[in-house]
Amino acid sequence: MAVQSAQILSQDELAAKLAEQPRVELGTFPTPLDACPRLSEAVGGPPLYIKRDDLTGLALGGNKTRNLEFQIGSAIAQGCDSVVAGADAQSNQCRQASAACAKVGLDCFLVLSGGLHTELQGNLLLDHIFGADVTVLEDATIDNLQERIDPIEAELRAQGRKPYRITSMYPEPALRAMCGYLSCALELSTQLSSLPQPPSTIFITSGSGTTHAGFAAGIKVLGLPIKVVGISIKEPADEQRENVAARSQRLAEQLEIPCGLSEDEVHVSGDYIGEKYGLTTPEGLEAIRLTAQHEGILLDPVYTGKTMAGIIAMARAGELPAEQPVIMVHTGGIPAIFAYHEEIMSAL
Ligand SMILES: Cc1ncc(COP(=O)(O)O)c(C=O)c1O
Repeated sequence: MAVQSAQILSQDELAAKLAEQPRVELGTFPTPLDACPRLSEAVGGPPLYIKRDDLTGLALGGNKTRNLEFQIGSAIAQGCDSVVAGADAQSNQCRQASAACAKVGLDCFLVLSGGLHTELQGNLLLDHIFGADVTVLEDATIDNLQERIDPIEAELRAQGRKPYRITSMYPEPALRAMCGYLSCALELSTQLSSLPQPPSTIFITSGSGTTHAGFAAGIKVLGLPIKVVGISIKEPADEQRENVAARSQRLAEQLEIPCGLSEDEVHVSGDYIGEKYGLTTPEGLEAIRLTAQHEGILLDPVYTGKTMAGIIAMARAGELPAEQPVIMVHTGGIPAIFAYHEEIMSAL
């Protein structure tokens, strides 16, 4: 069914804007939009669909493929010879960055924080397979890691290297990354006609907020009357709302398109974080089990499991319109399952 839109930019105009940005092809698109009838029935919810960005193709998939197409495109356009990135040891971004670098022939330097799941499993194992230079700073935390990376980046520059720093902080790399999820919103907008009715809500995981901001900006600029709800996996809802709105406004300035969101237009739930980022929740583990056992689709314990936990809770509470479909954007994260095997097994 066609979705009515109060269009600001047409699909072609948004595609033309994206085509102006430096970009390399890393993934396999479009990703499918899968119906999940058995899961909807099991949780007593509306028709549920999953936008399968876990199937973006690069290095076991995930949201960072789209983001990296623009970030690596920018790195190459600037003549960089390497990438420096850092996050926690089970970072999906770092895993996909190391694969992207391997694909385009850049060196990849990863600096990872210690603490949680630093065993050679999941994403960390894959970083090594893709040939990244991996340093784990056991005493660094996710909160002070970026400043710990600064001297490492400076040392590379002193050696005559020209690294491109991938970070979800401002300015340039995050703006590039947001183009990735503008492109996802555009792609999904072309798939909505396959649904029996227009969706009421699209759920997306909100971490740094980059993916959420890019996606919600895309839905806004295409004029689609669909609520985008970010499920925060780290920050309280108020802070994340402010963060996502600010990111979308920066994107609007950068691309010169009216895709900026006010805080009122940003929807965030902070109810599914649990104790803290990176730690599993019983609801998230249940969501992994239910989605696997009703749809044959894997979710991860840190991001998408918590997002689906939010959808399931709202469905069970009758908070979602009963007839209209809802969509979850599946942002990937699958390799972390292998590092979190004990937590997952304990909940099966
Ligand atoms: C699997 C997965 N989903 C969602 C996100 C959130 O993306 P963002 O940091 O852009 O909000 C991440 C970030 O690392 C991720 O790895």
